[in-house]
Amino acid sequence: LQGSAEVLTTREQMRLKSLELIQKGQSIGFVPTMGALHAGHGELLRRARQENSVVVLSIFVNPKQFGPQEDLSKYPRTLLKDVDLAKSHGVDYVFAPTIDEMYPLPFLTQVSVNEKMTKILCGQYRDNHFDGVCTVVLLLLNLVGAHRSYFGLKDFQQFTILRKMCKDLAMSTEMIGIPTVRSESGLALSSRNQFLSESEASQALAIPKALALLWQAYEKDAVTVRELKTLALSKLQEAGIKAQYFECREIDTLQVIEDSTVLENHDDRSTEALFAFAGFMGQTRLIDNVVLSHQPVYQLAGKELMRLSLAREIDS
Ligand code: PAF
Repeated sequence: LQGSAEVLTTREQMRLKSLELIQKGQSIGFVPTMGALHAGHGELLRRARQENSVVVLSIFVNPKQFGPQEDLSKYPRTLLKDVDLAKSHGVDYVFAPTIDEMYPLPFLTQVSVNEKMTKILCGQYRDNHFDGVCTVVLLLLNLVGAHRSYFGLKDFQQFTILRKMCKDLAMSTEMIGIPTVRSESGLALSSRNQFLSESEASQALAIPKALALLWQAYEKDAVTVRELKTLALSKLQEAGIKAQYFECREIDTLQVIEDSTVLENHDDRSTEALFAFAGFMGQTRLIDNVVLSHQPVYQLAGKELMRLSLAREIDS
């Protein structure tokens, strides 16, 4: 499976290509990224390849979604390697514009979703981050004209906000969230993992472990949100990890689920709960989450998280 991964760099080229493909009756699958591709992106591309006749990958490190104190200049840029990986995943077109091309001056528009979704969780710590994400994704969707767009669920809040934006604005793309890909020891893959020292990387394994313990407790019995939080937080604390946040939220609206709420695995009317973590390992900010839900995709993800993160625990 080798794609031509033809690189397009201007808005005009992307727009014309999209019109041509749509005219020919092709279905376009779209994977937006900031590059530094890893196996998590690989999974998005695999799904896009399976479900569409043409696959478009975008690579654009979007300055609008980085705060002034954040790692924009440090963010890994590996275009040649990324294009090779794109080829091996059967990508047809790589859209890799410059900043001036994406945001010709004066660029005066910003897309924002209500603060109820954007000023919570990561949004409390990253000013205007989600406005930057929404603005670039809306622009990309207009240029690419995708039938289906693929996002990783590691960035659960991002996916939920973007899905809401697309619904509110009647965008015609289908928004598809793909479960987090993890390393053999359970760590959620991220382009930022390469910044971790060896000891930070091993300390970080307590994050998926804490989430796996939480899943295990939920699988066994009815439990309250409070009990699950305590369980996970004590695992994190044991490893010396201080959470920037660790919260339980409803999966579609992202509104708070109270600590006293009982969650049950064997009841499809039960609340569907996102448990989301963010914290620093040294200088590197990591996020991860688990969704407690009866839905098969989340059941599979929870079991996989347990398999990867708790097997070693039992061995040792
Ligand atoms: O998840 C990402 O890599 C980025 O936030 C996205 C969706 C490509 C927008 O820049």
